Amino acid sequence: MSNSAATPTVLIARRLLPAGLDRLAASCELRQGGLDSDAERLRELAPGVDAIVSDPTVAVDEPLLDAAGPSLKVVANFAVGYDSIDVDACRRRGIPVTNTPDVLTNATAELALALTLAAARHVTEAEADLRAGRWTGWDPGAYLGVELSGATFAVVGLGRIGRRYAELVRGPAGEILYVGRTPKPDAEAELDAIRVSLADALAQADVVSLHVPGTPDNARLIGRAELAEMKPDAILVNTARGSVVDSAALAEALHDGTIGAAGLDVYEDEPRVPAELLAAPRCVLLPHIGSATVRARDAMASTVADNVLAALAGAEPPNRVA
Ligand code: GLV
Repeated sequence: MSNSAATPTVLIARRLLPAGLDRLAASCELRQGGLDSDAERLRELAPGVDAIVSDPTVAVDEPLLDAAGPSLKVVANFAVGYDSIDVDACRRRGIPVTNTPDVLTNATAELALALTLAAARHVTEAEADLRAGRWTGWDPGAYLGVELSGATFAVVGLGRIGRRYAELVRGPAGEILYVGRTPKPDAEAELDAIRVSLADALAQADVVSLHVPGTPDNARLIGRAELAEMKPDAILVNTARGSVVDSAALAEALHDGTIGAAGLDVYEDEPRVPAELLAAPRCVLLPHIGSATVRARDAMASTVADNVLAALAGAEPPNRVA
């Protein structure tokens, strides 16, 4: 039960960094699930809380909202993507949902760039060979990758992160294509970006980088048919959500040379990484670290605190998404 109107209780579903945690601790009672908390543990901790701080691994669903009960005033997500939150259920209860936009844009776009470069040059396989003692000397024919200078980049989803990625590749890019529901005339002017259909982007691009949210509409946006449209040496980069790519189809496309390489930071059923992807060639795999810089994560934690404290004070939280 909420202990009193004067001291609100915040459920930190897993872990919040000190940049946000300390600010909340100054005026709130905290219940912390910890990194190992599961749905059952969260429901045990939820009754009477005034706020829930979630993250992309936490399902904020009807059972958790019911367990929290009528005292709940806000669900503040420690991430920009909020596909793990049942926003309709929150709306029905009049509970605002917030996220952490902007502060992680640069970090995530830079990681997409890192994956692009690493995939283009087979960095993972080359380093693994070296570490395992398999490197026997300079070989003119080994680890031959592709160069990105002059390449055609397709940005699928020209939101904040997609646009920053486009800015970062503006230097090497020969051409920047983008796929989006609405035209972005300012981006077109600033980046010389050209809006195309997904089919055209897949057919023309040397690099396809995904920056769309993990909505049901985008589920398996890239599947067997889409991979088949890509160039045989093209690179697919996914720092968005695992649900956007059919991983079995991607593994197959890497095995049979339908596409050149892939760089992935997200998976369909995290933290499980599909065995077929682990076994796939020319595939750089990272453990969902898109926003993992000190600057971004501290700012995200602080943004969470801004949103929780605003909602608890009866004000409109600054980053309300529902
Ligand atoms: C991380 O995955 C985020 O959505 O911020």
